[in-house]
Amino acid sequence: GAEGLPPGAPPRPPRQRWVWMNFESPSHSPGLRGLGGLFNWTMSYRRDSDVFVPYGYLYVPPAPRPFVLPRKTRLVAWVISNWNEEHARVRYYRQLQEHLPIDVYGARGMALAEGGLVETVSAYKFYLAFENSQHTDYITEKLWRNAFSASAVPVVLGPRRANYERFIPPDSFIHVDDFPSPRLLATYLKFLDKNKPNYRRYFAWRKKYEVHVTSFWDEHFCKVCEAVRAAGNQIKTVRNLASWFES
Ligand SMILES: *[C@@H]1O[C@H](CO)[C@@H](O)[C@H](O)[C@H]1NC(C)=O
Repeated sequence: GAEGLPPGAPPRPPRQRWVWMNFESPSHSPGLRGLGGLFNWTMSYRRDSDVFVPYGYLYVPPAPRPFVLPRKTRLVAWVISNWNEEHARVRYYRQLQEHLPIDVYGARGMALAEGGLVETVSAYKFYLAFENSQHTDYITEKLWRNAFSASAVPVVLGPRRANYERFIPPDSFIHVDDFPSPRLLATYLKFLDKNKPNYRRYFAWRKKYEVHVTSFWDEHFCKVCEAVRAAGNQIKTVRNLASWFES
């Protein structure tokens, strides 16, 4: 909140920039109303931030390494630590698991071997990359690390498909909205399980791209340094922080 910020006097040096940095979604970012007109820049996962730092991204490597699909012995995994019956992701899971076996890891499920999330998930064909809340550009390490780094096909629940497609190829993921019901999604996943060529199509993009998972906080600090250098003497104030971030 605003009361936690340094006092107004002595005044901030004229060329000092205050950067509002946040990587939680609007649902978990209370108290923004009092922060209008205080900050010069925003820094977040939103693409229209002054300093945009996504949780991950795809890039075209200068010399692509051939992609090898890990051996898949299991079907669907989900890692969840904050279990909340009110969340859309838990409601969706409850319906989906009536039609399909899902291995759940985390607080309510099986224990993950220490540091072994990516390795554990890599034995699965699909990963439920379900965000804790649904907001513009709010696509987290659940997609980039838990699914993509583990070479599992992400089944996403988050912002709409078109929002994901700003960042990743349309054929790299399955969106829950692609299906009228969890039952029909389950049918499709079972179909892919039995049809290897169809399943493998979800990896075609890997001929061209590699996955980068952003590391906290070193990359963030580098990004903001670059932005400071690039901005020169430009002056800016973020007037409507809450309405922008919540839109
Ligand atoms: C930063 O924002 C403050 C508050 O509106 C403003 O007085 C100051 O000129 C801004 N500084 C820069 C470098 O943009």
